[in-house]
Amino acid sequence: MAVRCWLVRVGSLAWRKEGVTTGTGGGGIIFRVAFQFRRAQVSPHPKITMSTTLSATSQLDQLKKFTTVVADTGDFESIRKYAPQDATTNPSLIFKAVQQEAYKPLLEKAIADNSSSPLVGEALQKKIIDDLLIAFGCKILDIVPGRVSTEVDARLSFNRDATVEKARELIGLYKKAGVPRERILIKIASTWEGAQAAKICEKEGIHCNLTLMFSLGQAIACAEAGVTLISPFVGRIYDFYKAATGKEYAGAEDPGVQSVNVIYNYYKKFDYKTQVMGASFRNLGEILELAGCDLLTIGPNWLEDLQNSQAEVTQKLSPEAARNMDIEKIDVDEKVFRWMLNEEAMATDKLAEGIRKFAADIVKLEAIIAKSI
Ligand code: E4P
Repeated sequence: MAVRCWLVRVGSLAWRKEGVTTGTGGGGIIFRVAFQFRRAQVSPHPKITMSTTLSATSQLDQLKKFTTVVADTGDFESIRKYAPQDATTNPSLIFKAVQQEAYKPLLEKAIADNSSSPLVGEALQKKIIDDLLIAFGCKILDIVPGRVSTEVDARLSFNRDATVEKARELIGLYKKAGVPRERILIKIASTWEGAQAAKICEKEGIHCNLTLMFSLGQAIACAEAGVTLISPFVGRIYDFYKAATGKEYAGAEDPGVQSVNVIYNYYKKFDYKTQVMGASFRNLGEILELAGCDLLTIGPNWLEDLQNSQAEVTQKLSPEAARNMDIEKIDVDEKVFRWMLNEEAMATDKLAEGIRKFAADIVKLEAIIAKSI
């Protein structure tokens, strides 16, 4: 009787697209019932025993078995909704978020907190932006159990020492806010200078996420620098080749997917500890094709699609498979790094464009702040 009543409630919850639930029936027997019922399909007298499993787990829950799922957004409600382990932001996402009514108070507080600061002009704007990034990070860390990535000013991408200085400042501000460094990834562009800055940071226990990654040379330099995590960009590689050829790439043919495959297999083959987090997606196929990658950072629209589908997810990447591959080791010093990057037009263009665009969004954010101080 208890089960029957509960199933009727499941039927009504079906409209909320909750997915699958697990519960304990009388006598402690575990039962699982999928919420994919439509109201009309729920019999008033369902013949279901306590141990019945009625199919389907969402693709999101299946993916979480192979890969750590990370939310790629500055929107707190989306992060809450999909229960990711970590979250990532970038200057464009923060710029987008502060233009929404819901997040304006964070910006207003960062400005108010600095109202009696001795800093003026650009220095004051930069401090307000740092406080804003920390405010976003802290709010996100109230939601996720893991880490948040906070990006350093993209204009420092070719300045190793200034990047290290900014990373230390951000970690110091997090510390003041009561957040330990273990929960932070400092996001730095994957330039040569960025990788060398990360090498210094990691030695100080400041963990780094090397972003704007489009090529194996960048990935090797980051692994050799001992960085905690890299973010190879799938979608922006797809964008480049789609624009160049007019072709729509799908699944394993997608050059962005192929790029992550190459990097992941290289890392696992040679036993690098640096984690690989696929980022920047343009379609669900790219995400599914990378199931098994250490982490994937996924925007809310794709998280929603994954949550709403129960199609089977298959693991595509694994350390075991990579170890059996025939892969040549490459020694990457600064000269080789620059040469490899220069040889790949896509990576050269996308790295430069990515830095330009993130920098432009920081400048726009500064302009908003300048008007208010
Ligand atoms: C995450 O770390 C990246 O900043 C993000 O995935 C970039 O995505 P985009 O290429 O859609 O801007």
